[in-house]
Amino acid sequence: MAKISIGLDIGFTSIKVVALDLSAKLPKVISFGSIVSPQPGISSEADIELEAVATAIKNLLQAAKIEGNEVTIALPESKIFTRVIDDLPPLTDKELASAITFAAEEFIPLPVSELSLNYQVLSRSKEKTSKTVVLVVGSPTGLINKYIKVLNLSNLKPKAIETEIIAAARSLVGNNPLSPTTLILQMGASTTDFAAVSHGMIWQTRSIATGGLALTRALAAHLNFELPQAEEYKKTYGLVQDALAGKVFEGLKPVADIIVGETRRVIQSYETKYPQDKIKRVILSGGGSKLPGFVIYFANNLGVEVQDGDPWAMLAKEPALSAKLASAGSLYTVAVGLALREQ
Ligand SMILES: Nc1ncnc2c1ncn2[C@@H]1O[C@H](COP(=O)(O)OP(=O)(O)OP(=O)(O)O)[C@@H](O)[C@H]1O
Ligand SMILES: [Mg+2]
Repeated sequence: MAKISIGLDIGFTSIKVVALDLSAKLPKVISFGSIVSPQPGISSEADIELEAVATAIKNLLQAAKIEGNEVTIALPESKIFTRVIDDLPPLTDKELASAITFAAEEFIPLPVSELSLNYQVLSRSKEKTSKTVVLVVGSPTGLINKYIKVLNLSNLKPKAIETEIIAAARSLVGNNPLSPTTLILQMGASTTDFAAVSHGMIWQTRSIATGGLALTRALAAHLNFELPQAEEYKKTYGLVQDALAGKVFEGLKPVADIIVGETRRVIQSYETKYPQDKIKRVILSGGGSKLPGFVIYFANNLGVEVQDGDPWAMLAKEPALSAKLASAGSLYTVAVGLALREQ
């Protein structure tokens, strides 16, 4: 019997949905689709704006012919607090839970009473000398409630709520302990999120407020264009150096370099902590990474293997869908990762 799982990624510029059948060994793509996000959309606190988001979600599910009412969603990396805590001594489970609450107070500027704290143990110390390493995610309860409200308005229920970068890591690397150590770069409109993944687990994360929108804004300022026109030029010419006498490249380069620079810093920081485990490849993902010339620009500037993320690679699909999936590309990375979550 089919076991349909639905991933819903409510982004700043677009809302994406993916339905997978998880009953077979290889999860199978049943349906997918996207719709433009209303503005200001999910970033607003006003009921009327959230209702507009709910209407868009209902329209999207109808167009994609998806009927289930339980969905897995992601919270935006920019609004939550993710941190790897790696200096804990050997502890019992109970001690660990309170140590994490204590540590969270240090890195999260919100009272613990307004947070939902989740954690995943990455490495457990066995002897007195080695460290316990834990991935901690603190999500403001107000934020969670807002997303649940939008789901309710869409006649949906949350099956699970997680973070964008955890979903992206699941879809691009999975939990295969034999995958090479990878840095995932997930670039949306408002943020670019990073995760270093080794042995099927996330060891380091980072999020910066520079994404596809920052590229468009920089280009608009450089060419003295309105945003919609700059968006078109960005998508058409991107970082291809000789197009339009290099004008588009020049406008985008300062922002692209911020992202490359941050990528380099995340790699350095990971490799300083884990000198035996170098980052072997960088995978670029998210709508923002569809920028023409982006992969080559990264590869030239980083000196590490750089790949275009393909969230569909490890899934079964009808041949008739293949061409559509290829052009949709990594826009669906987060939605696929959400749908791949087992429970
Ligand atoms: N072909 C393309 N070339 C360059 N940029 C693109 C292309 N297609 C989409 N983008 C950019 O990708 C961004 C949207 O990507 P995505 O849908 O992943 O973001 P989002 O999920 O809506 O945003 P966020 O994750 O920040 O909430 C926009 O900034 C858009 O300009
Ligand atoms: Mg997104």
